Amino acid sequence: MGRRLARSLQSAPVMMTLPANDPAQDDDPPSGDAPPHPLHRRLKSFVRRAGRTTDGQARAFAELGPIFLLPYRAEPLDLEAAFGRAAPTVLEIGFGMGEATAHIAALKPETNFLCCEVHEPGVGALLKRIGEQQLTNIRIFAHDAVDVLDHMLVPGTLAGVHVFFPDPWHKKRHNKRRLIQPPLVRKLAERLAPGGYLHCATDWQPYAEQMLEVLSQEPLLRNTAAAYAPKPDYRPLTKFENRGLKLGHGVWDLVFVRV
Ligand SMILES: C[S@@+](CC[C@H](N)C(=O)[O-])C[C@H]1O[C@@H](n2cnc3c(N)ncnc32)[C@H](O)[C@@H]1O
Repeated sequence: MGRRLARSLQSAPVMMTLPANDPAQDDDPPSGDAPPHPLHRRLKSFVRRAGRTTDGQARAFAELGPIFLLPYRAEPLDLEAAFGRAAPTVLEIGFGMGEATAHIAALKPETNFLCCEVHEPGVGALLKRIGEQQLTNIRIFAHDAVDVLDHMLVPGTLAGVHVFFPDPWHKKRHNKRRLIQPPLVRKLAERLAPGGYLHCATDWQPYAEQMLEVLSQEPLLRNTAAAYAPKPDYRPLTKFENRGLKLGHGVWDLVFVRV
């Protein structure tokens, strides 16, 4: 199935090279209380987890990676060239194993999904779903989304941003690694087109409260709800979320729009 999809996409003018090794990615500061070394660029919102890439994921990498993976380069991305068409584009940060991503991309074929994830088996898993579901509207950066945001995305160009269940960094001393903080939210808001939306979801209440505070304080954004939003229909309940709900955990969605 992957090969058939690959053939049907061969005419699309997308970038076809695998991401180059990026030495800047190897500079993760040690976790814990030690202050970052001055040579480290910034504190990352992730640590590289070990994980096994299955045979199916490896096959998906080989067959579909050249079509759907975009190479990270510190230069503006031509979205139309990357997707082979002009369409509203939604950025997703940290798609995990890509379950929600593939579901939403299938639901909204008219929208482009630009998806960032640093966990290699997760990237393989999404590539596999792309093949199985014959999806054509996803492109992937196997790279830190903050770099992509900083160097590749032009202000006013995104129709939406999805940040679903970002790492909660539970311990107080690790809270500073959380993605949803004022500087990043400002960058996201700037890259949204007027009317574009930022949708975050979390199952960790203290993080939900932080999200509500930070997003509410961003002057470029307006809340679509009085506080937390009802779960939009397009966001599926993932296995992970279902497990949490069964254990009695809450889930909070936040949907803000660019004014
Ligand atoms: C807790 S998981 C949630 C995954 C998925 N969104 C879900 O709902 O199941 C958070 C994911 O974000 C990824 N991540 C964290 N910071 C990132 C960054 N700066 N760029 C890209 N991916 C990131 C991690 O590798 C991890 O897979």
